[in-house]
Amino acid sequence: MGMALPLVANAPIGVFDSGVGGLSVLREIRRQLPAERLIYAADSGHAPYGDKSPAYVQRRAEHILRQFQRVGCKAVVVACNTVTGLSILALREQYPGWPIVAIEPAVKPAATLTRSGVIGVLATRNTVDSPGLARLIATHAAGVRVLPQACPGWVERVEHGELDGAQTEADVANRVRPLLAAGADVLVLGCTHYPFLRPVIQRVAGPDVTVLDPAPAVARELARRLAQTSSAAQDLAAGDVTFWTSGDPSHVGHVISLLWGQSVRPQPLPGGCA
Ligand code: DGL
Repeated sequence: MGMALPLVANAPIGVFDSGVGGLSVLREIRRQLPAERLIYAADSGHAPYGDKSPAYVQRRAEHILRQFQRVGCKAVVVACNTVTGLSILALREQYPGWPIVAIEPAVKPAATLTRSGVIGVLATRNTVDSPGLARLIATHAAGVRVLPQACPGWVERVEHGELDGAQTEADVANRVRPLLAAGADVLVLGCTHYPFLRPVIQRVAGPDVTVLDPAPAVARELARRLAQTSSAAQDLAAGDVTFWTSGDPSHVGHVISLLWGQSVRPQPLPGGCA
């Protein structure tokens, strides 16, 4: 670990999450940067990260970064708010000089948008308790009431492809209604799995509530970093996506295909079960 890598334009970009949630970020990257070669690692064999110990989550992130380094990735995207909240400082310290772009809850735009002065942050238990979220709130949401809301079970629903239906709607309503009752007029999707529940969340919240997903901003930041290091890919025909998973490839392949909108066969995550 710990060494700077040469940034080669046609090298791949590694994108990862505890499971399939980071596909909500991957689709934005694919849309904005279609010439890039992308590797998506779904650590579904270890999902959810949201209720594991911080040390466990960091070990998983380090393992995946080692695999990205081994295949020569020119940049990494942490498509997992939980990893960002718990470990981003340590990961960047281990890999200075490697662009590591990381998603985080959209607290800053939410604080600008709210008219009621109350915003809800929907996230995993670990993100709600993380130093990263505390830093974000202290820096960007002075004078605004921020209500972090853990949403246990939502990640598992998305991992199983249960994006709708009475039970999913009841789960969503349970967590969202108290935020609305407290006056929230902006809801932040603070976990990359949750954009796949967005139609249900918006239905429960109603049309007057703004629901924010930071994925487009993450893809823009990645584009900016690649431009800065003159390492953006140019050949549109070379852009593609390879999928890795630590979960059962057939089950995960089925769910990725559903969310990605085309048939996908993931390869086993390299490096064994470290
Ligand atoms: N999708 C991840 C996030 O953005 C992690 C969810 C989990 O595994 O608990 O936080």
